[in-house]
Amino acid sequence: MLREKREKALAGGGEERIKKQHEKGKLTARERIEKLLDPGSFVEIGMFAESRATDFGMDKKRFPGDGVVTGYGTINGRLVFVYAQDFTVLGGSLGEMHAAKICRIMDMAMEVGAPVIGLNDSGGARIQEGVDALKGYGEIFFRNTIASGVIPQIAVIMGPCAGGAVYSPAIMDFTIMVDKKSHMFITGPQVIKAVTGEDVDFETLGGALVHNQKSGNAHFIAASDEAALELVKILLSYIPSNNMEDPPEMSTGDAPDRMPYELDEIIPEDPKKSYDVRDVINLVMDKGTFLEIQPYYASNIVIGFARLNGKSVGIVANQPNHLAGVLDINASDKVARFVRFCDSFNIPIVTFVDVPGYLPGVSQEHGGIIRHGAKLLYAYSEATVPKLTVIMRKAYGGAYIAMGSKHLRADVVYAWPTAEIAVMGPEGAVNIVFRKELKEAEDPNKRRLELIKEYRDRFANPYVAAARLYVDDVIYPHETRVKLIQALEMLENKKEERPMKKHGNIPL
Ligand code: HXC
Repeated sequence: MLREKREKALAGGGEERIKKQHEKGKLTARERIEKLLDPGSFVEIGMFAESRATDFGMDKKRFPGDGVVTGYGTINGRLVFVYAQDFTVLGGSLGEMHAAKICRIMDMAMEVGAPVIGLNDSGGARIQEGVDALKGYGEIFFRNTIASGVIPQIAVIMGPCAGGAVYSPAIMDFTIMVDKKSHMFITGPQVIKAVTGEDVDFETLGGALVHNQKSGNAHFIAASDEAALELVKILLSYIPSNNMEDPPEMSTGDAPDRMPYELDEIIPEDPKKSYDVRDVINLVMDKGTFLEIQPYYASNIVIGFARLNGKSVGIVANQPNHLAGVLDINASDKVARFVRFCDSFNIPIVTFVDVPGYLPGVSQEHGGIIRHGAKLLYAYSEATVPKLTVIMRKAYGGAYIAMGSKHLRADVVYAWPTAEIAVMGPEGAVNIVFRKELKEAEDPNKRRLELIKEYRDRFANPYVAAARLYVDDVIYPHETRVKLIQALEMLENKKEERPMKKHGNIPL
């Protein structure tokens, strides 16, 4: 009897539906778990959980497992908990027991301090189960929130994720979407058509690219189920299993005393010219270890994980290649959430600065750049993990303060000789401060150039800030790797206390 029952559970929604799933280019829930975890490590929990719903003929639609496979196993030897929704069973819809199974493994993950990985492929709340399904989601959202900052939570969207169901991934730390196979939206195309009259298809409304590029809801786009699962493993390699542990260290074979002299040539002579800050990151960090997060969203700022002498670090860097690296609403949101993740999980933050300021414009002002930009100040100030900052070129105004400045308690701030730390750029400053003088000058253009040079010599360099200890040292670019590794080692046992409070009130 047990064997038969097991076979039935393993068969999910049956051969026909599994075939359909494969025809869509999707793996089944069990195949996904198999590919995610170390071979043979999966231990299932709740295989025989069953719905007790009876309305709308549900008493005749009972499936062991209730449309989700749950349990634990290992990834590269580290314990993780996983749930995979089974679209072949009632469209992976979430009923009372389906939700209870997810909650069960989340509770266990919290007790033992291990990450939770959710593989989503579901039509949302099981309509026939009514309020019991809604209760199920509520219980999951509550657990996602309580687990936030305690254990890492990673959502992989591998099929539909509709209605309120999207809020579980939204509360989790990272969302990976499979290209062309996954969709996320609160209300689908039909409802939108009925309410607003807009015509939109699933992909344009909530496909992987849209959420990676436009909405910022997702962090990664993967070409296939397999690629998405591989990404989970890579991501986890930078992250500790819980907030009491340090991130895993790994030897990368890259010498800590390597001096990348190419860095000395990276800043163009012309201050208006740009460069790709990812080249800086790749040269400074251990070779081949940089994993960019949200590369398509707010590309004026770059975030990601990398390793420095084998130690995991979180990176924040202005990207001069895109919008001159300004800070805007989306960039502020992107960085603030990332900095808070790193701080929650003991991952030091390295900030590379080349920022002309906050983006001017009515749409930014009316969109709330004050409130959103404040998140950056808040997140950096709040973070007590080691914070290392390298000012490469421009560090102007409020953006200088926001980008991991000493004043927000960066532990070590280095500046390259090309750094310009000032309230604003020379041109803007001269136009304001010397407006009257320029008006009356015999040759205003000549005088402007003289004043710009004067201003640049006086303020647009790192030495005034270094004289005040706002910068710890001015270094050659090729020394950056060595200096950061030394600083990271020095800060190994850093402890920074903050006043006890229930929680702060970050401007949201
Ligand atoms: C019950 C569902 C279901 C649901 C799908 N199914 N969604 N059963 N409740 N929410 C069933 C279908 O009836 C069908 O069963 C099987 O799953 C496969 O679905 P298909 O429609 O045949 O598949 P496909 O054509 O691939 O379309 C997938 C889909 C579509 C796009 C996800 O099923 C769909 O639009 N579903 C409804 C999505 C939705 O609006 N969900 C509710 C959101 S509200 P049979 O037996 O016929 O094969 C919500 C509130 C949560 O989630 C609030 C939390 C706060």
